[in-house]
Amino acid sequence: MLSKLSLLIIIMIMVMMNVIKASPVNYGEALSKSILFFEGQRSGKLPDSQRMKWRKDSALRDGSDIQMDMVGGYYDAGDNMKFNFPMAFTTTMLGWSVIEFGDEMGSELTNALEALKWGSDYFLKATYDPDRIVAQVGNSIVDHNCWERPEDMDTPRTSYYVTPQQPGSELSAEMAAALAASSIAFRTSNASYSDLLRHRADEVFDFANNYRGSYNNSIGMAVCPFYCDVSGYMDELIWGASWLYKASNDSRYLDFVKSNIKFIGNDVFEFGWDNKDAGINVLVSQWAMADPSNRDPFISNADKFICSLLPTASTKTVSYSKGGLLFKVGGSNLQHTTSLSFLLIVYARYIQAANRIIQCENEVADPATLINLAKNQVDYILGNNPLRMSYMVGYGAKFPQKIHHRGSTLPSMDMHPQQFKCHDGDEYFKTQSPNPNILVGAVVGGPAEDDSFQDSRYNVPQSEPATYINAPFVGVLAYFNKPNIFS
Ligand SMILES: *[C@@H]1O[C@H](CO)[C@@H](O)[C@H](O)[C@H]1NC(C)=O
Ligand SMILES: *[C@@H]1O[C@H](CO)[C@@H](O)[C@H](O)[C@H]1NC(C)=O
Ligand SMILES: *[C@@H]1O[C@H](CO)[C@@H](O)[C@H](O)[C@H]1NC(C)=O
Repeated sequence: MLSKLSLLIIIMIMVMMNVIKASPVNYGEALSKSILFFEGQRSGKLPDSQRMKWRKDSALRDGSDIQMDMVGGYYDAGDNMKFNFPMAFTTTMLGWSVIEFGDEMGSELTNALEALKWGSDYFLKATYDPDRIVAQVGNSIVDHNCWERPEDMDTPRTSYYVTPQQPGSELSAEMAAALAASSIAFRTSNASYSDLLRHRADEVFDFANNYRGSYNNSIGMAVCPFYCDVSGYMDELIWGASWLYKASNDSRYLDFVKSNIKFIGNDVFEFGWDNKDAGINVLVSQWAMADPSNRDPFISNADKFICSLLPTASTKTVSYSKGGLLFKVGGSNLQHTTSLSFLLIVYARYIQAANRIIQCENEVADPATLINLAKNQVDYILGNNPLRMSYMVGYGAKFPQKIHHRGSTLPSMDMHPQQFKCHDGDEYFKTQSPNPNILVGAVVGGPAEDDSFQDSRYNVPQSEPATYINAPFVGVLAYFNKPNIFS
């Protein structure tokens, strides 16, 4: 028999092991930081409320080359480009985060809405001219060749746009989705703004649908190879219509979704800035569950998508590292992990509300299965991984110090008011020193499939943050800050 003392020692050892095994995650802190990150990516004239103080006004003449006001919006990632296609997806996902999880955000809701408005205000500008939708500001090749602060930019700020003759259906339909999602998110706090967004979303959707074509072909080299639309534009048209239906209940949009869904085929496993398929099925399944006549193929496709993610399912199409992180083909892996985790939680809530479970080939998944899988991903990202490394900058004891991000790498305007020209920043890129400015909340591309991580500016897929990695993560963190599925 164990003495009381040895029992106590055993318990203490177990407690210590557990502490070492899984340090508690502070979802509330991570949520605040995930939203703060967007202030670091702001382009344009910064408001008094700006909290990330090392950033200053930048790109105040954007759009002047085409006599438009394109000031504002977000820099895409570690560069100083405004790529409106992925930026619109980021805005849609910030909107969806607020719509689905705003009630769980507490005092962070105000900040989340401000981050969303920074995007939606910009898209009102980008779609201001009904016959000219702005696709991008900045010259990708020249921008990427320089290592300079946004505040100093001396590279061409060329504006690229699509028109009825040179269309861009994926670009404009994603903007329609962003505007529609924003209109729902602002409905209670600012009704007139919400109406304005809705009205614009209608117009932009018509533009996308009436003038069909890919912006690949219309603006070509400006956006390819960076944000070429590989999956075609039908998914964005259906996604845009789904968001417009959610925002308006206008049956014309539901009819569009139902009659066009067949055109995106069986590719139901993808979700990101390029491909919206899994997102469409999850989003539409919410009302499809309530109305049997709308059920097919949305629910079976969403179920199939979930079965493709479960680690022990025979139908799995993703992979997991030894440490448990979800991997999918395509660079900047954490973009997949955060957006797929978002869909896991949203779908868990929808099937919970409809009292459903998911039957995969060799196993059954209930809402808790989905939530636990998403929680493992979030916890991994925030430090419960073999390296004990947080992949969110400024969160936890150990996080990436040398992220691939121009503004973060170079001394701030306060420290170094003189301009850095195109290559003046190169020495800061090459140095082994940590970045001087902490881009708090930025989630980087993340570790390799063997759970290793190279904290190096040269390793772009691992060390670069991107707005579309963070946007779905905002909703995911809000959920885990106040999980209420089983209440
Ligand atoms: C609603 O949004 C508009 C447009 O941004 C703004 O001018 C107005 O002050 C907002 N109203 C409220 C009540 O926040
Ligand atoms: C866009 O360009 C990529 C790369 O050239 C190509 O694979 C894809 O099919 C194009 N998409 C459309 C819709 O034209
Ligand atoms: C659409 O219908 C739903 C369900 O009846 C309702 O909750 C929502 O407020 C409606 N939206 C609009 C914009 O009318």
